[in-house]
Amino acid sequence: MPKEAPPPLWLLAELTWRCPLHCAFCYNPVDFARHEAELDTQTWRNVIREARALGAAQIGFSGGEPLLRDDLEELVGYARGLGFYTNLITSGIGLTEVRIGKLKEAGLDHIQLSFQDSTRELNDFLTSTRTFELKQRVARLIKSHGYPMVLNCVLHRYNLPHVAQIIEMALDMGAEYLELANTQYYGWALLNRTQLMPTAEQLREAEDVVNAYRARVGERCRILFVVPDYFEVRPKACMNGWGSVFLAVSPDGTALPCHAARSLPGLTFPNVRDTAIKDIWYDSAAFNAYRGEHWMKEPCRDCDERHTDHGGCRCQAYQLAGDAAGADPVCSKSSHHGVVEQAVKLARRHAEAHDTTVQPLVFRSRENSLKAR
Ligand code: FES
Repeated sequence: MPKEAPPPLWLLAELTWRCPLHCAFCYNPVDFARHEAELDTQTWRNVIREARALGAAQIGFSGGEPLLRDDLEELVGYARGLGFYTNLITSGIGLTEVRIGKLKEAGLDHIQLSFQDSTRELNDFLTSTRTFELKQRVARLIKSHGYPMVLNCVLHRYNLPHVAQIIEMALDMGAEYLELANTQYYGWALLNRTQLMPTAEQLREAEDVVNAYRARVGERCRILFVVPDYFEVRPKACMNGWGSVFLAVSPDGTALPCHAARSLPGLTFPNVRDTAIKDIWYDSAAFNAYRGEHWMKEPCRDCDERHTDHGGCRCQAYQLAGDAAGADPVCSKSSHHGVVEQAVKLARRHAEAHDTTVQPLVFRSRENSLKAR
């Protein structure tokens, strides 16, 4: 198929699934511990070189926690030398004075630091660690090395009521950019969906708070607020379309058009250990499976919005309705939209303590991953 497919713009290098945190809303695959063999440095260099040759312009070093890889500085320097704009997506754990100095020297352009909450109690509870103060120190370190302060906080029922304090904390840290991204329900977050999903009222209140801050702080800090798609009636243009701009490479070398695709049935995802990036991107059956519109069924096939939302998210269509080629059930035109409404209702019952049958939060850990089916 289509050699006319555009080249990837974004390479997400998921260097490792090891992570010192145990976030209950992590989007990594629940069974990550079954895929532990990591690519070596040379193979990552090949991936980076080939993706750049194809036209990719931005690279995100992510995980797990990418700082757990000793070769991070080398890979950043290599990517920068080839002309990539380099991003580090990190929890900050392991970012010492020495390492940030080396990363700066290697040419790292941008660091995105994640926070879980404005309070030590909730930060430490949600991650199953004691990392609150450490993250504050890392934020100061990032600032003192001349990087823009870019903070990310994943929102859910537990921390949405703290949104004003989270913004205050970000402003105190001198944040230039704050991403308040409501949980997207993949991986561990999907497992914990009923406990994490907010009520519509919580979301509305939080959005009002965000808008008031936006008006007050203006350009000093840009605040992005991403609403969970379960509360929408049209789906998100996931990955801007399958195989359109985004190429993710997992720690074990599996190449994916999105983080969650590994769970889709009937597709064999190529591995960078034995397939060139060019062949993966243009010729693999998996990357072509949902590219363009040839795979669409009703109601997407004749929908006026198909060019902008691309039918929504393939992974969500499979997770919620069992059909990866169907419309994303977030869409009110989907015959499975009721599944989304039911999930929201169930979460509300749980939030109002009317449903005590729901399991407690399952934290991301190697042990829990090995137990997962
Ligand atoms: Fe896979 Fe949306 S997460 S297509």
